Order: sequence, then structure tokens, then C-alpha cells
Amino acid sequence: LSNMDNKLDIYRRELVDVQGVPLFWSIAEEWSQVESFESRPDDLLIATYPKSGTTWVSEIVDLIYNNGDAEKCKRDAIYNRVPFMELIVPGMENGIEDLKKMQSPRLVKTHLPVQLLPSSFWKNNCKMVYVARNAKDVAVSYFYFYQMAKLHPEPGTWEEFLGKFMTGKVAFGSWYDHVKGWWEKRKDYRILYLFYEDMKENPKREIQKLLKFLDKNLPEETVNKIIYHSSFDVMKQNPCANYTTVPSFDMDHSVSPFMRKGISGDWKNKFTVAQNEKFEEDYEKKMKGSSLQFRSEI
Ligand code: A3P
Repeated sequence: LSNMDNKLDIYRRELVDVQGVPLFWSIAEEWSQVESFESRPDDLLIATYPKSGTTWVSEIVDLIYNNGDAEKCKRDAIYNRVPFMELIVPGMENGIEDLKKMQSPRLVKTHLPVQLLPSSFWKNNCKMVYVARNAKDVAVSYFYFYQMAKLHPEPGTWEEFLGKFMTGKVAFGSWYDHVKGWWEKRKDYRILYLFYEDMKENPKREIQKLLKFLDKNLPEETVNKIIYHSSFDVMKQNPCANYTTVPSFDMDHSVSPFMRKGISGDWKNKFTVAQNEKFEEDYEKKMKGSSLQFRSEI
């Protein structure tokens, strides 16, 4: 029972502001640990706003690191192969501790906005892969994820959640600031900036970009294997990629599976005409002045 009480105490709590960015209370409480995280020069950082294709690109990069050997990639769950750096949940999770124990070269996942990234990554000039996904699909995906992953506060109705998304009052803050912030930073650091929609359209082309960025050469046959093993349908069936190994009190796949739809343009099934109009008007204002463009057909 005390364990149960403990769980209730951990989940569905309000987010806590860290330098203007709402984060899980448990991350905010341990912020000094996150801030002083020590990177290694050969770390590869995978940075994303939540629900933008983090797991997908993580699986692809792990497959690249293992020369397309899918069996080797089944050695462990994706969240252990690519630890979520800043995720700290008392008595359950500590990404920083997991990473300390890990052999190099490490793959490191973060959802932090660029201004909150531990400075060690800049000092070491680590390579970073950023994946951005169009705002509307992220909002929809995030709404379902809030419902199934209990560390988030209650999302409320879709209308309510969309309002919070637009004002940046969701975990990891404003999508608009996140994608723009990382976009600017790529000018000065080794950041490969990818788009979910491009990966959907032509995974081979995007994997080639990753290979070039990682100074790696792989035969075409291996690249094809990587495309296959990182496809949505195959990852959805793979327990080491689909998050079904997480305890259900933490992530409840019966509410909404982690591997939900894996498509571009699902927002059309969720946004009302009025929501779309309001969203677009607000989007223009928030994205104005940035050279960052998302594909218009989405
Ligand atoms: P949907 O909820 O729209 O289906 P993240 O890993 O950043 O949390 O992102 C999760 C989103 O990426 C989910 O979107 C999930 O289905 C999608 N996704 C995961 N693996 C994918 C893959 N191999 N191909 C396409 N989409 C994938």
C-alpha cells in the first residue's frame, strides 16, 4: 500500500517552472544535478521537443552504431540504450546516473530547450541530432501521450490541452521556442537538424544525412535493413522499441499506445475548423522572423 501511495504522490503532479520552462516536478527539484551533467566528447546527443520522432531517430542511430544488426539492438529497451538524460523520478529513474555507468560512445536523449542544455555539451562540442515535427501533429500526439504517461499532469479536454500547447504551458515548454532555439544554434555547433516529415517521405535520404554527419559508411544492403527495422510497423511490434516494457502504472498503453499512428497530418482528424484557424493565426505571430519553415502541405 505504501508503494501505491508513493506512486500516487509521483504522478499527475503540476509542472514546475525552471528558468521559465515548465518541467516535471522531479526534474525541477534535482535541477542542479542536470545542470552539472558531464558530457563526453564522443557523446551523440539526440534532442527533440517531445513527440517529434525521438524514439524513431534513436532506433535509427543505434542501428547505425551497430551496423544494421537488429539483434544487437534488441539487447535492451530503447530507454536504456539511449537514456533520457534529465529524467529523474524518485526511486525509479535517473538518466544522469544511468549515463554515468554507460560505456562510450553514448547516445543521449534530451527534450530540453536549447538554453537549458547543460553547458558541458557546448564545451565538448558534442555532435547533436535535432528532430523537429510540425506543430499540429506534435500537439495531437502530445495530447494522447499526456493521457497514457502518468508523469504528466492531467491534460484536460483536447480544447484545453491545445490552449496549453499554444501558450507553452506543457512539459518542456513552448514548441515554438524549442524548434526556433535549436534552429539558431545549428549555425555555431555540430547540429544535424532533421524533420519528421522528411523522414516519413524518404527515410533513405535522411539516413544518408545521418551517416554523413556521423562520418560513417554503410553498404546499401545495410541501409535497407536499417530502413526496415526502423519502420513504424516493425518498431511497433518490437518490445525493445515500443515502450511496452514500462510498467503500466507509468505508461498505460490501453489508454493510447506509445506507437500510436506514426503518420504525418493526423491533426486533420483532431482539429476543428475553428481550432485550426485560431492556431494558424497564432502560429504566424510566433514563427514570424524565423527562417525555419515546415512543409506547407502537412
Ligand atoms: P504519433 O502519436 O503521432 O503516432 P517521440 O518518440 O518523440 O515520443 O515521438 C512519438 C511519435 O513518433 C508518435 O507519434 C509515434 O507513433 C511516432 N513514431 C515512433 N516510431 C516511429 C516510426 N518508426 N515511424 C514513424 N513514426 C514513429
